[in-house]
Amino acid sequence: MKIGIIGTGYVGLVTAVGLSELGHEVTGTDIVEEKIDMASRGITHIYEPGLDQMLKKNLKQGNLSFSSNLNKTILSSDVLFVCVGTPQREDGSADMSFVEEVSRKVAENLNAYKLVVEKSTVPVKTSMWIKRTISLYKKSEIDFDVASNPEFLREGSAVSDFLNPDRIILGAETDKAKDILKKIYEKFKDRILITNIDTAELIKHASNSFLALKISYINLMSEMCEKTEADVEQVAKGMGFDPRIGPLFLRAGLGYGGSCFPKDIRALTKIGEDLGINMNLLKEADRINLERISVYVEKIKKALWILKDKKIAVLGLSFKPETDDIREAPSVKVIQELIKEGSFLRLYDPKAMENMKEVFPEEQPQLLYAKSSYEAAKDANALLFITEWDEFKKLDLRKVKEVMANPIIIDGRNIFEPVTVRELGFEYYSIGRK
Ligand code: UGA
Repeated sequence: MKIGIIGTGYVGLVTAVGLSELGHEVTGTDIVEEKIDMASRGITHIYEPGLDQMLKKNLKQGNLSFSSNLNKTILSSDVLFVCVGTPQREDGSADMSFVEEVSRKVAENLNAYKLVVEKSTVPVKTSMWIKRTISLYKKSEIDFDVASNPEFLREGSAVSDFLNPDRIILGAETDKAKDILKKIYEKFKDRILITNIDTAELIKHASNSFLALKISYINLMSEMCEKTEADVEQVAKGMGFDPRIGPLFLRAGLGYGGSCFPKDIRALTKIGEDLGINMNLLKEADRINLERISVYVEKIKKALWILKDKKIAVLGLSFKPETDDIREAPSVKVIQELIKEGSFLRLYDPKAMENMKEVFPEEQPQLLYAKSSYEAAKDANALLFITEWDEFKKLDLRKVKEVMANPIIIDGRNIFEPVTVRELGFEYYSIGRK
């Protein structure tokens, strides 16, 4: 069975490499020549632990290749995974034009039966549109199927998530499509759930939105904690002992970012509203999440009073640790606010500096990119922690204190124990804790 992966962005590249690691013959294709060029040479265009090595290994073994020729990839594949982007439009809905374009290309190149599997996060009913588009544009009577196999990979641990999935959701209509997909994922047969296509599509959106709800919920509780004597870490721990709630995704902080949760919760809201359903529950979660930035900036003001001309070190730029991704990262909004206030910023992140330079160029007068956390902290009036990289947890805070102008930490991710940091002589602010 030959598998073609259309779109080698984050999901597509990990899927291509992962499926080849499972022993399948895989070709990845993309309209961006540079991505294909890099992948063919064994270089990943994203930072994802372990992906480089696995890419190189499978290229060498000969069961993984990359091509910028979409038509050829379609013609030579039995199964096509659609992994193109579904960016957010102004009204919150997902832009499906790339998916439509791919569907037309499949129709034009339908030389034999093909199974088209949507892997991108798409609104419920998308597969029906893909099926309709291929039927409208195909020039022969050749048969095809459409299926849904949503992706649950987390950035930063995508390789291990792919090789140890907690579930494989397969939404398919025909026995032929189900059999092909079961064969592809044979290794994980104990974790497969087969559903109809609408259900599979909705499972993805419902999962991401539920996790986002959990985060906004604990962030709401963190505000309650700040106005009382309660401690949000203990509240989360206490809640988490209940197996019906569980301990995960209850970390209070600067809120969720990334290319998935903010976009998906809005897309699901739009889908629901279009179906005539009141989606206020999800809208509130989104509002609470957006409000994290102003709540945090208020904390900085509480510590520094006037922000104009203050030197502030910003540690952690990626939307979460172990990734260089800064899409919808809280850091971007915090930095924008501080620039507006007239502060001088020194930024540092272990992996995301290059991406950040595209948003805030190095030439910007109020900004400086530091080579280390210590360099960022030099002469600073305050130190902000925006992302909980392990590297920050291991900082020598004594050394940090020595180089700072004023020993003030405003920790947006509750990285440190308040007592320990205060004992070292810092003024310390965090989220939902005294
Ligand atoms: C998320 C899902 O976890 C994946 O299952 C899904 O496949 C992916 O979206 C997607 O749709 O493609 P990801 O965006 O990589 O994965 O990141 P997460 O680890 O889920 O974290 C999302 C955001 O929530 C981050 O900004 C993180 O800092 C924040 N978060 C997470 C919290 O603020 N508190 C928590 O307790 C947990």
